[in-house]
Amino acid sequence: MEHICKVSVKASKDYDILIGEGLLDAAGEQVRRVLGTCRPAVLTDDTVDALYGGRVLRSLAAAGLDACKFVFPHGEGSKNLGVMASFLDFMAEHRLTRGDAVIALGGGVPGDMGGFAAAVFLRGVPCVQIPTTLLAAVDSSVGGKTAVDIPAGKNLAGAFHQPSLVLCDTKTLDTLPPDILRDGFAEVVKYGVILDEDLFSAVSVPPVQDMQAVIRRCVELKRDVVGADEFDRGTRQLLNFGHTVGHAIEQLSGFTVSHGSAVAKGMLRAARMGAAMGLGDFTAPIRDTLLRYGFDLSCPYTPEELFDVMLNDKKRLPDTITLVLPERMGHCGLYKMPVSRALELLKATAS
Ligand SMILES: NC(=O)c1ccc[n+]([C@@H]2O[C@H](COP(=O)([O-])OP(=O)(O)OC[C@H]3O[C@@H](n4cnc5c(N)ncnc54)[C@H](O)[C@@H]3O)[C@@H](O)[C@H]2O)c1
Repeated sequence: MEHICKVSVKASKDYDILIGEGLLDAAGEQVRRVLGTCRPAVLTDDTVDALYGGRVLRSLAAAGLDACKFVFPHGEGSKNLGVMASFLDFMAEHRLTRGDAVIALGGGVPGDMGGFAAAVFLRGVPCVQIPTTLLAAVDSSVGGKTAVDIPAGKNLAGAFHQPSLVLCDTKTLDTLPPDILRDGFAEVVKYGVILDEDLFSAVSVPPVQDMQAVIRRCVELKRDVVGADEFDRGTRQLLNFGHTVGHAIEQLSGFTVSHGSAVAKGMLRAARMGAAMGLGDFTAPIRDTLLRYGFDLSCPYTPEELFDVMLNDKKRLPDTITLVLPERMGHCGLYKMPVSRALELLKATAS
């Protein structure tokens, strides 16, 4: 194994994030080190299972852990209560106890659903996250937000449940289709804009040379934000930069626009809104960086259509909306405003 780096998180539960090549083959030893002898239930999708399921199961077996595996069809369409209920039944049939654990192997979909299942099965069992997409590595595997989608909307049923361990094998990114890898870069660029100008500069001209260092930096930034506001009552909302408009675009497209592509469009719109408010104009560097990654930054929806969906945001208070807007590169602020002002800004930046 090449050099493995470790980021330690202090939250309601302390845990380590290990990042480097070859960690899939160390899964058994690492899970055993952190959780002792347990029966892991591995939750993964069919694509990831075909690529990496066997290696993880072999590693767990070699460490003396008698794992069972539940595989579901890949994609956001599976992140629902039906699939989760089947997984909960599966764990019950395999007689898992509170001393056992869920291992979420894959992107944000297995990650979010595995985390939620771990939060509720027997009122809470440990969860190990093994992210295999860039988005999951830098974002969804860290911080303890878990959820499934319900017919009323995305991520509307969930829980805060911190993992016990995150194992990020950077080699798994090699098999990602280019569009899914690009989705993750939207989140990487986001961290740069909201929190770290040096990171923004380092990733502004692809290709990124040192992915391990970039993932590490993103995870450290998320660790610090989550450490200050684990339950999303204040500063954690900074991580929503580009997401308020992005989620609206995702939803209006019927989820045919991917999360990362929608966030890229949302970040450009947020930069324009910040400029329209006189905070400073960071539109050009954000737009140029996203274009270099090949994002389509067009927005086919009217301000009224976007606004209508934005009003459903679960984090919104009545009559107000909070936008995350850049004040300078590497620093964003939270701007709480009447919903009417948000509509004005959407209209002013519709070009
Ligand atoms: N909990 C959080 O804090 C948080 C943060 C951001 C996003 N999310 C959630 O994450 C989800 C999106 O994550 P995602 O884009 O990783 O989705 P995903 O899990 O569906 O993965 C995307 C696709 O990549 C495939 N894949 C995964 N790893 C692969 C690999 N190494 N090689 C080849 N193919 C691979 C999957 O099979 C899938 O088809 C959304 O549901 C979103 O709501 C959660």
